[in-house]
Amino acid sequence: MASVSPSLVSPFIPTDSHSSSKPVKLGIMASGSGSNFEAVAQAIEDGQLNAEIQVLIYNNPDAYAAVRADTRNVKAVLINHREYKHREELDKQIVETLLAHGVEWVIMAGWMRLVTQVLIDAFPKKMINIHPSLLPSFKGVRAIEQAIKAQVKITGCTVHLVSLEMDSGEIIMQAAVPVIPEDTPETLHKRIQIQEHRILPAAIQLVVNSYQ
Ligand code: GRF
Repeated sequence: MASVSPSLVSPFIPTDSHSSSKPVKLGIMASGSGSNFEAVAQAIEDGQLNAEIQVLIYNNPDAYAAVRADTRNVKAVLINHREYKHREELDKQIVETLLAHGVEWVIMAGWMRLVTQVLIDAFPKKMINIHPSLLPSFKGVRAIEQAIKAQVKITGCTVHLVSLEMDSGEIIMQAAVPVIPEDTPETLHKRIQIQEHRILPAAIQLVVNSYQ
């Protein structure tokens, strides 16, 4: 990625980090606004990420992520968790949909559901999540509120591999964001998202390259 500061983002990514091999086939999962979906799509369009988005899976009928997918001609599939009695059944449907679309790597970009072994087994070490804190601090929901409450001066975001334990898989990349005294959860989230949109595509390229 262009001009990623080594002092803010770890590890440092050289600008020629993307290989000339076949584009990797991504499946993106999102529950809400989908700004991270957009960042990945834009990085692909800009030639910074050598990938194709095969499908977006979303679980909330009114998720704006689906609108973004339509605009970019990416197929969007609603899999509403409310229609499934058990989490395993939900994940089974998700796995079938991802495999039917030829997905190789799964990107959880604001997917607000816990995953089960069903999903992990289908994509071993090939699922990535983005979380709005410097893990292992502030796992789980309301990570930004947790950071403000703890009065930390620096927080940030983390891209990591997905494991069964929430927000605990191997860390791929992080970016730091200062917390200022006037911050509300909304203002801090906005600044964290600027970094999320930089490191998510870079982390995908990094981790995919390491498998090639
Ligand atoms: C991001 O802040 C991400 O860290 C968290 O959920 C948010 C999703 O944002 N897991 P968006 O839907 O990509 O805009």
